[in-house]
Amino acid sequence: MKIASILTLAAALCAVSVNAAAAAAPHSTTTTKHVAKATSTTTKHAKATTTTTKNHKTTAKAKTTANAKTTTKAKTSTKPATKPATKPTNAPKAKDPCATLAQEGKKEGLSLSYAAVKGCYEAQPFNADLAAKTLAAIENSLGNFYAFVDQAKSGPTTVSGSPLQTAKVDIMGQLAKIKATKWKNDYEFQMALTYLTLSANDGHLAYTNNCYRTATFSQPLSLYAPVVNGTQDVRVFFVDTTVTKSGLPKDPSSLLDCKVVTIDGQPALKAIQDFTDRTSAISKDPGVRLNDALASTSWYSDWSTSPGGFAKRWEVPAKSSMDYTLQCGTKTQKLTIPWAVEPSDNFEANTFKDRATYWNVQCVASPSPYDSNIHTRALPDTEPAPEKRVIVAPAVRLFRERGTIALPKGGPRNGDGKAPSIITQATHLFTASTTIFYQLKGSSKNTCVAVIATEEAANFQYDASDYTDFIKGMQLMQSKGCTKLILDMTNNGGGSVDFAYFVNQLLFPTAKPYFAQDLRDNSLVQGAAKMAIKSTRGLSIFDARGYVSDATNKAYKDGSMFTKGVNYSRGGATVTFSQRTYFEHSWPFLPLKKNALKWKPKDISIITNGFCGSACTMIATRFAVVHGIKTYSIGGIAKRPLSYFSFPGGFVMDNAAIVSDLRSIQFKGGKTAPVSLPIMGYLNLAVGEIYAKDNSTLPIEYDSQWFAANVHLDQDPVSARHPDQVWVKIAKDFSK
Ligand SMILES: *[C@@H]1O[C@H](CO)[C@@H](O)[C@H](O)[C@H]1NC(C)=O
Ligand SMILES: *[C@@H]1O[C@H](CO)[C@@H](O)[C@H](O)[C@H]1NC(C)=O
Ligand SMILES: *[C@@H]1O[C@H](CO)[C@@H](O)[C@H](O)[C@H]1NC(C)=O
Repeated sequence: MKIASILTLAAALCAVSVNAAAAAAPHSTTTTKHVAKATSTTTKHAKATTTTTKNHKTTAKAKTTANAKTTTKAKTSTKPATKPATKPTNAPKAKDPCATLAQEGKKEGLSLSYAAVKGCYEAQPFNADLAAKTLAAIENSLGNFYAFVDQAKSGPTTVSGSPLQTAKVDIMGQLAKIKATKWKNDYEFQMALTYLTLSANDGHLAYTNNCYRTATFSQPLSLYAPVVNGTQDVRVFFVDTTVTKSGLPKDPSSLLDCKVVTIDGQPALKAIQDFTDRTSAISKDPGVRLNDALASTSWYSDWSTSPGGFAKRWEVPAKSSMDYTLQCGTKTQKLTIPWAVEPSDNFEANTFKDRATYWNVQCVASPSPYDSNIHTRALPDTEPAPEKRVIVAPAVRLFRERGTIALPKGGPRNGDGKAPSIITQATHLFTASTTIFYQLKGSSKNTCVAVIATEEAANFQYDASDYTDFIKGMQLMQSKGCTKLILDMTNNGGGSVDFAYFVNQLLFPTAKPYFAQDLRDNSLVQGAAKMAIKSTRGLSIFDARGYVSDATNKAYKDGSMFTKGVNYSRGGATVTFSQRTYFEHSWPFLPLKKNALKWKPKDISIITNGFCGSACTMIATRFAVVHGIKTYSIGGIAKRPLSYFSFPGGFVMDNAAIVSDLRSIQFKGGKTAPVSLPIMGYLNLAVGEIYAKDNSTLPIEYDSQWFAANVHLDQDPVSARHPDQVWVKIAKDFSK
């Protein structure tokens, strides 16, 4: 992998998940502080990597997630404005859009122009050598390791009432087509690869080239699609005048909750659905993809609202402004609002001056010392096992990159641990890093709510507080007399598989906390597995000793997990997977010695907006499929079933982690072995898959029967802003 891309990921999550990635982590998301806590031994490598790269210190410094704009401003202002090297002889040509972009990027507080960004992207010529290397890297990784490469060809099962709707995708066939196509420029070639990976609608799968993600495009209008009086319409959720005031009426707040009739001449809902079906990839359910495009309110260390992917995007819009027809009461008005174009966290201000230098700085990966040496050391015994380290799923990264909308003055804030004004129907009990705990008021006070935002938890062997705080919150709810429990897992992108197992075991101490999983098992994997079993234990995800056999409940001592694989029919072919396994687990604080939790499945409900991915799925589906807990989903498309979870996958890795893993066990693998991407970017993929039942032959990811929530609730103008309104509704259902 490219240092660049690693560090950009580091920037997004803070330095340490880099190591996670580096250390070949099959996993999902993680936060900064948790990982930082967890992996002190690997932290130094992040630092080391940071210092070996030129540009990326800035990126890593400019700590991010929230608002790209603020970050970029901060970044630019801390840098001395180096003068462009303008010797008269090699001054950039007047028509070079990248030169314009370089100039625009130097001015603090100013936006980029639509024309310069688009022009600079399109100015990069097709480079046959780089294209061949890019294709080889993608083909080798996806062809050998992507868990769903075969099943994607036939798509999800057909089940009546299934909310899933996604095209069948022959990824390898399409890659061959892309290879055979004559491309106008590098941008179009690279975008074809990105859109191909997105078309599988697997939140774990994406090819992202940062070269063409150096700007973000924002609209001040955040939209949503509530159902009012039985009709679903697109409406204005919020007008963020910090994005731009251009094109807005004098009183921008007069637009709140106006109906959006058309966008760029199309019916509004169709315009949004088409956009999100192409760019979101968060789910095989179009309703969840719609939710991903729209504003949504959720907790993640604070209550905040995401603008949604439609208002804040990485994809270059078709034109420099957006046209709206709005209906406010009986009045119809037309607005044309220019896109606010801002440097993204990938933008390296003051490092390029023209097309060629943009290419060198923003696009091409420099050879990395990281790939070759990160794994030459032996891991100490205390090193977290592979499954305890983390990589963020691309759908989650995208969601976080959008940041949050600038809240109105005096608006909802959770500052001092007091109940924020966004929540008015419940009393705040306790806040843990992953979860905030509430008790409903009044006649619903026998119902408590745990808002689980993430499964990102430190390895409890280093710091148990994420686990023990979760226990504390659950016990506190029980001690308040709550006999009913709602788990709100909206916008939860996963995290540690171990933490998910832990939650399952905490609530159901005598039940199995995991789903069985497996990995691809082809000749390349078998070759890797043979090397791994001879290597220092714990270096590789192909080391069978890191897994427990689902059949015998014993950890593997030999390579039979891979040498004695299992055949399935997938996508019209017979394909081999490893034996079924799970990750070893045991927690010193379970079972609880006192104040054991008493909730039975009938006392618990789950609510999500369908964005409950990866490790979140491992809790939500375990509760629903195995224990029969009632599920609710909210939003999506009216009068159509809606999933309560998305992208269960198995666990996520990226290309860099796979390359580094194979190097660590000195596996060469020949022509089809994974190789580093020659560009700055990522290729993320699920390398494992999980099964709902012991006798399932198809992974949950494609097993349509499990996805629909028992109850699909419509979003309305109040519940969209106050999720506790929905908790009250669900609480009332308990007594029915
Ligand atoms: C919904 O319908 C009621 C009467 O049926 C009406 O009073 C109300 O204004 C309508 N609400 C909206 C937002 O159109
Ligand atoms: C699985 O299929 C392969 C051919 O695709 C075959 O060689 C192998 O023997 C089969 N394994 C089992 C366990 O049936
Ligand atoms: C799995 O077992 C259950 C009973 O435990 C049965 O109802 C179901 O049909 C089986 N499914 C398959 C795919 O064999």
